Amino acid sequence: MAKKRVLSGMQPSGLLHLGNLMGALENWRKLQDEYECYYFIADWHALTTQYADTSKMRTYVHEMVIDWLAAGLDPEKCVLFRQSHLPEHAVLHVLFSMITPLPWLERVPTYKEKMEQIDDRDLYTYGFLGYPVLQAADILIYKADYVPVGVDQLPHLELTREIGRRFNAFYGDVLPEPQPLLTQYPKLLGTDGRKMSKSYNNCLYLSDTPEEITKKVMVMITDPARVRRQDPGNPDICPLFTLDQIFAPKEWCDHVNVECRRAGIGCVDDKRELLKHLLAYLKPIQEKRKELSASPKRVAEIIAEGSRKARIVAKETLSEVQEAMKL
Ligand code: TRP
Repeated sequence: MAKKRVLSGMQPSGLLHLGNLMGALENWRKLQDEYECYYFIADWHALTTQYADTSKMRTYVHEMVIDWLAAGLDPEKCVLFRQSHLPEHAVLHVLFSMITPLPWLERVPTYKEKMEQIDDRDLYTYGFLGYPVLQAADILIYKADYVPVGVDQLPHLELTREIGRRFNAFYGDVLPEPQPLLTQYPKLLGTDGRKMSKSYNNCLYLSDTPEEITKKVMVMITDPARVRRQDPGNPDICPLFTLDQIFAPKEWCDHVNVECRRAGIGCVDDKRELLKHLLAYLKPIQEKRKELSASPKRVAEIIAEGSRKARIVAKETLSEVQEAMKL
């Protein structure tokens, strides 16, 4: 039986952190054994918000691929490529833009939210409004069965299906309906207790050295009410404990759950224990990162080769689409 096809993309907007690793990459890595996976660098999507300054684009793309490979994505098992290497995505985007009603785009919740949130850049552009149309092209050009994404991306996927249906209604049955593959992952908090995010400057990065990780964990916020060592703490609201639950063994978490509440152990004890497990977990990733950083050519070749493979599929769907539209 043919493997089902999975597709997902990630914007190259900076170094990847533990939240990205647990939220997306670990899931992508597992899927590569079971599905025919296509993972791509969504560099055009990054332009929708970063168009005014592209000076770091190439660095971000390169470093992200290194993060992917270090986290275990295997170019022998999945196709890794770069969106801007595939003009076919852009052609399909143009064709979809002809049939996408404007109100569908104006209604997308992420559109309205970002418009309101981001005030240091002008997002009143054609490209930004069309973000989900481009995403629909990314997905449908591979006739993907599944798209692993976080909940925030569900509206984009719904719109993808709507665009596909509209296309099929006009021109005949060409495009299948992709389904989301939702990842249930534990919420990972940053060193300041807020959601881990580069805009908060509270991240543990895959590219951090063991020393940097240690430094960051040692100053990480814990239960704010626990000021002195002899104060009892509450793991339920402790950001550090969210990391314990992912990286430390269950026995340690159970121990913390009892001892912290009666001040039997201190935050520093917990940090030291967490670090043991976290650093062991990150060690192979950091080593792989080092090795890859030393051979930038190889990294570029992996993406060139992946883009070549992806292009075969993209071209085929695009011909079908153009045939259906009598182009
Ligand atoms: N919008 C996605 C994000 O920000 C990135 C993306 C672009 C994507 N095209 C895609 C994800 C296609 C899945 C499928 O996370």
